[in-house]
Amino acid sequence: MDLAPGLAAVTGASSGIGEAFAEELARRGHDLLIVARDTVRLEAIAARLRERRGVAVEVHAADLTDAAALHALETRIARAPRLALLVNNAGFGTSGAFETLDRDAEEAEIRLNVLAVTRLCHAALPGMVERGHGGIINVSSIASFVPGPYAATYHATKAYVTAFSEALHEEVHAAGVTVQALCPGFVRTGFQMRAGVNGAAIPGPAFMTPRAVVRGSLRALDRRHAVYVPGMHYRFLMALSRVAPRAAVRKLLTRVGRAAYLD
Ligand SMILES: NC(=O)c1ccc[n+]([C@@H]2O[C@H](COP(=O)([O-])OP(=O)(O)OC[C@H]3O[C@@H](n4cnc5c(N)ncnc54)[C@H](OP(=O)(O)O)[C@@H]3O)[C@@H](O)[C@H]2O)c1
Repeated sequence: MDLAPGLAAVTGASSGIGEAFAEELARRGHDLLIVARDTVRLEAIAARLRERRGVAVEVHAADLTDAAALHALETRIARAPRLALLVNNAGFGTSGAFETLDRDAEEAEIRLNVLAVTRLCHAALPGMVERGHGGIINVSSIASFVPGPYAATYHATKAYVTAFSEALHEEVHAAGVTVQALCPGFVRTGFQMRAGVNGAAIPGPAFMTPRAVVRGSLRALDRRHAVYVPGMHYRFLMALSRVAPRAAVRKLLTRVGRAAYLD
């Protein structure tokens, strides 16, 4: 699918994968609506992209776990007549023994990773379907394919994102709209530190760059792929997880989860 450069909205654009999406979409000529909480970082990114790429960039500061802020962004997106692409990228993970985790942080994780994605898709789709054109990329994770002991809520939120995106894709594909679940493995961003992951437990070559993930995702969107897993090694792991006995996968991931999140 070739997207005529229109407006692209990117949540979580102040760092990591979202910032790389903003960079790449500006390079493709899209005007941008960039969203996150850190206004200073967003303004710096907007100034850079306006200057280097000559595109229009609107900064929209919002904490998407907040109902009123989410509603304001829904309204902005629903009223964007040139919306070509929505990237639901903002997300975070928590880790540790579930019963010890902060209950409000678990709720915020569900609000951001699940509720905001759902409501923003609902805001964007009517216009896209009516125009017979558009794309949505929901940033999920390889975590969506397997249960995650000691990151239980995170894996469950991403399982929702992948299943939800695949289903929407089938609903709107014939109308000319593509919905993609982007399912990266480890990507070199600030995510791991915020999620409390023991970086030493992850081998260096496992990490991909945000730019490689984003470029692959946009190429897959051009080809109207519903699910995209960046990296051959992660595609192999996912294929393996589908055929391996589920109980064995759980046991293995319990050991991995202890090393990554508890030690
Ligand atoms: N890095 C990985 O290994 C990896 C792997 C698979 C999937 N993912 C997924 O990729 C996505 C992006 O993560 P990343 O790796 O790029 O991490 P990151 O650098 O921590 O980026 C997260 C982005 O989300 C924004 N955000 C966080 N809480 C928010 C809130 N309450 N309201 C609005 N925006 C919020 C952050 O901006 P502010 O702090 O300015 O609000 C930031 O721009 C996430 O959905 C994550 O689950 C990451």
